[in-house]
Amino acid sequence: MPRYAVTGASGHFGRRVVEELVDRGVRGTDIVAIARTTGKAADLATRGVQLRPGDYSRPETLPPALMGVERLLLISGSELGQRVPQHTAVIEAAKDAGVQRILYTSIVKADTSTNPIAGEHRGTETALRMSAVPYTLLRNSWYTENYTERLEQYLETGEILGAAGSGRVSAAPRSDFAAAAVAALLADDEGNVVYELGGPAFSFEELAATISEVTGKTVGYRNLPPTDYLSVLQRIGLDEATAEFVVAIDASIAAGDLETDSKDLAQLLDHPATPLADAIRAALDR
Ligand SMILES: NC(=O)c1ccc[n+]([C@@H]2O[C@H](COP(=O)([O-])OP(=O)(O)OC[C@H]3O[C@@H](n4cnc5c(N)ncnc54)[C@H](OP(=O)(O)O)[C@@H]3O)[C@@H](O)[C@H]2O)c1
Repeated sequence: MPRYAVTGASGHFGRRVVEELVDRGVRGTDIVAIARTTGKAADLATRGVQLRPGDYSRPETLPPALMGVERLLLISGSELGQRVPQHTAVIEAAKDAGVQRILYTSIVKADTSTNPIAGEHRGTETALRMSAVPYTLLRNSWYTENYTERLEQYLETGEILGAAGSGRVSAAPRSDFAAAAVAALLADDEGNVVYELGGPAFSFEELAATISEVTGKTVGYRNLPPTDYLSVLQRIGLDEATAEFVVAIDASIAAGDLETDSKDLAQLLDHPATPLADAIRAALDR
């Protein structure tokens, strides 16, 4: 009987979790990698892991995917607007399959966050509560990759544009959050557990200063009023809804919604989260 199942195994986070479980000595036969696009995760099977198809939007795929599983890591999907019914379908199928614990990748401060994606995480957390299956909430802050993937652009223009004011983000590399998920998956917890997960917080001004320090090229942060930022985003080609979404994210950062002083991430990792400068250096080396 497999002990651990990970959904979204074809994505960056899920793949990382499955690989780390194997690296930490969990037998491949104890791991189920569930993927909508199994072809993207086919190599995981070569490590002895069971690969099973599972699509959050096709409920009939879920019972065979979850058969015999004890602990499930439900990784939030990427189709905004559809995620509450999708995740609820997985939770219901997991309950029916006798899964004993569901771990879910939520968002930091999910209860109160004004982040435009927080509503779907709250909706999923409610579905988990209603299911009565014991759960672990992995309330992740932003991936550092949200910024390091734009390094080239920042260096080219010499600036980071935004409307987040002096709001700070407790970001950490995706790999840190994935390692924390592995630790939580392997832990013999009882009852419901909530982790608020984030690395050392930085403002956009501090992000710009760290990029300048690491690269030797000056990058500054230009803070704009939200309406001006909206116009800039539309001028560079974003449609109105997407531009409003990006501005709303910055408003939530300004409100402190992605900042946490919780030590949960470092505790799960058993070492401090990766410092911003190291994440920038690693991105430059890739
Ligand atoms: N905290 C942050 O800063 C941050 C940033 C980005 C994303 N996220 C969230 O964290 C999740 C994992 O991150 P990631 O880096 O691994 O993202 P990713 O590489 O884009 O992977 C998303 C995964 O979700 C799967 N998925 C989407 N819709 C699905 C469905 N209907 N049924 C089954 N699987 C479905 C995708 O499957 P396919 O391969 O078939 O498409 C893929 O495996 C994301 O999905 C998103 O919810 C958080």
